Amino acid sequence: MRFAGKTVVLCVTGGIAAYKAADLTSKLHQNGATVHVLMTESATQFIAPMTFETLSGNRAVVDTFDRSFPWEVEHISLAKAADVFVIAPATANVIAKAAHGIADDMVTTTLLATKAPVVVAPAMNTGMYDNPVTQENLATLRKRGFHIIEPDAGHLACGDSGRGKLPDTPTLLWGIEKALTEQDLAGRHVLVTAGPTQEAMDPVRFLSNHSTGKMGYAIAARAAMRGADATLVSGPTALDTPHGVTRVDIVSARDMYDAVTSRAPEQDFIIKAAAVGDYRPAQTADEKLKKGDGEMNIELTRNPDILAALGKDKKPGQLLCGFAMETQNLLDNAESKLRRKNCDMLVANSLRDKGAGFGTDTNVVTLITRDSETELPIMTKEEVADCLLTEILKRTKEQDGSSGIKPTDGPA
Ligand code: CTP
Repeated sequence: MRFAGKTVVLCVTGGIAAYKAADLTSKLHQNGATVHVLMTESATQFIAPMTFETLSGNRAVVDTFDRSFPWEVEHISLAKAADVFVIAPATANVIAKAAHGIADDMVTTTLLATKAPVVVAPAMNTGMYDNPVTQENLATLRKRGFHIIEPDAGHLACGDSGRGKLPDTPTLLWGIEKALTEQDLAGRHVLVTAGPTQEAMDPVRFLSNHSTGKMGYAIAARAAMRGADATLVSGPTALDTPHGVTRVDIVSARDMYDAVTSRAPEQDFIIKAAAVGDYRPAQTADEKLKKGDGEMNIELTRNPDILAALGKDKKPGQLLCGFAMETQNLLDNAESKLRRKNCDMLVANSLRDKGAGFGTDTNVVTLITRDSETELPIMTKEEVADCLLTEILKRTKEQDGSSGIKPTDGPA
């Protein structure tokens, strides 16, 4: 459960998107959060407190001077109890008040008192959103460390079209989770490869493998959640692009080679989780190959080894991590790949282990470096991704410390 043990104070202010806060409340609650909803008077014109009370299991508070609550839910104690404070939807009015320290209702008095991270999801008419005064107020909030979730563009309830829509619930949940997550990869550029490659034989057939991309997608997702500037170079998969990740789609190993090597110089970490095809058909037929009576032989030719090329051309301080999926002699094979390809780390997994391999949600891996071997127990691919990123960051910090290299921008 993503929000287990977390207390979320969700402030709903008066815009038509207030109804979407009901789904947000429900999803936060389902994901283990304790949710306390505060509403402005005008929000109650759009949706009733009863809706939030039913979904959160807690009283929704509107009036600062309502004495019918026990002391625990007064605004100061809610401000203290919050692990994260969320304003969704946030009107231009509440944004202006927050920027100037005005505290004249339950939402703004509690906001002024809280020390929790604050997430603001603006939703309003495009003209109001684009107005320089709203933009200046948002800039003020950003400068003070508030987390702003940018509104979507599209058709607005007022009939206009443009920026100002409250993003969907998964995007809001992502922004809230990010505000609760230590941004230890902020300023780091991380490139991850994922999925299979496809090597065309003719316009209808290709050679490929069983990779689903889950491991690489999990790494890119966790890197972005922890603040990295994450790029995912992906072969064909059925997976959605993780939030906050820039995705580059490729088909063949040669496409992947171009996409990765052209972006490599600006990366701090490169993690090659893709199952790259080692061979491709020597010829790709322009027309569909027709069957004959006899056997068919396809001549294969070697693809470039992307990881080996990156290993040859590594910039100082860059950390290169490969994957090795083996069916036998796991550690020996992985160690020899680590040296041959000049990697800093290799993530070895055996297709023979239960819970490891293609398409599963779990993995069983050993992290191998030149001077260590760390066997991890069976865990979800997200947990493996976090362990891997933590280990890479630790090694990079040790290297940074000895060479004086700093992340490209922002704090480490
Ligand atoms: N890799 C790559 N380019 C290739 C083949 C592999 O970048 N043409 C990368 C993979 O992304 C992975 C690592 O190399 O990070 C190891 O891949 P693997 O297929 O296990 O190793 P190979 O070198 O292909 O060795 P073999 O197939 O002989 O086991």
